[in-house]
Amino acid sequence: MSQDRPSSFYFKGVRFDNAVNLKALELVDSFEVRDDDVFISCYIKSGTTWTQQIVSLVCAEGDISEASKVLLQVRTPWLESLQASGGRLGVGEGVPRPILLKSAPSPRLMSTHLPYHLLPQQVRDGKGKIIYCARNVKDVVVSWHNMRRMMQHMTCGTWEENFQDFITPDLAFYGFWWDVIPEYWRHKDDGNLLFIKFEDLKRDLRGHVVKIANFLGKTLSDQRIDQVVANCTFSAMKENPATNYSRNPKLQKIFGKAEGSELEFVRKGEVGDWKNWFSAEENKILEAIHKEKMAGTDLTFEYE
Ligand code: A3P
Repeated sequence: MSQDRPSSFYFKGVRFDNAVNLKALELVDSFEVRDDDVFISCYIKSGTTWTQQIVSLVCAEGDISEASKVLLQVRTPWLESLQASGGRLGVGEGVPRPILLKSAPSPRLMSTHLPYHLLPQQVRDGKGKIIYCARNVKDVVVSWHNMRRMMQHMTCGTWEENFQDFITPDLAFYGFWWDVIPEYWRHKDDGNLLFIKFEDLKRDLRGHVVKIANFLGKTLSDQRIDQVVANCTFSAMKENPATNYSRNPKLQKIFGKAEGSELEFVRKGEVGDWKNWFSAEENKILEAIHKEKMAGTDLTFEYE
């Protein structure tokens, strides 16, 4: 192995890295949910930041370009983390988010990478709303590998090692993709969950802004929708230090490893980058797993 793997721990059988806090995790199940709570939930590297930005701006009253300047981690804090310097990915001492969120004003927007069965019990009982964004698994592996290359607090294996971890149920971070995504998909018709896909956001961003607004019961003028879309395009989010942490003076040290590295948190944002990384053999292995594990679902993805 070229370097050590990121430090990790297990909670209820799921492997987490040190962006997640055990004390916070233990408080999630009994977290008191409010009717107007909104949870943005995604598997890692599947469009979380994008969904956070859309939801936050859809919910923002007043000046959207001002709202867009506030760090996403502040607008949509991570449920399973500590509030520490550097936000979710700040390491060290801090207060578990579920404690801080108790006194946060409504409506609360919160983010999570947790599998469905680890969400607060009251959310699973139908309280609050969840917007779930999924992405084709091949691009997720590539994006995760590049994230690990970029982050200062994570050590990073080679592409081959990270690929192997990803397809190994016990080693995959934040749960095994083929467990987590079908579990959320089984809840796609629950009244409090909206299931969207990264590839659909790419194809029709405006249509999805409208869809999300409708789901959240927000009535936005055409002009307001245009403003949200303008602040959620790839180029707008790449240039915005509140969404692309690699360009944020306070967070650059965490979200940017190598001096002069081309890697950024908002990186390429494409569908099909996996073709630049997968060997023919890796593609065969992953497709075999996918075929077997997804056999019982009607969930499909676009790969290019
Ligand atoms: P890539 O690494 O493939 O570029 P997450 O927010 O869950 O960590 O997901 C990160 C991925 O979303 C990255 O993918 C990032 O570039 C992409 N992304 C973020 N904002 C985007 C946007 N506005 N349009 C397209 N992709 C975006």
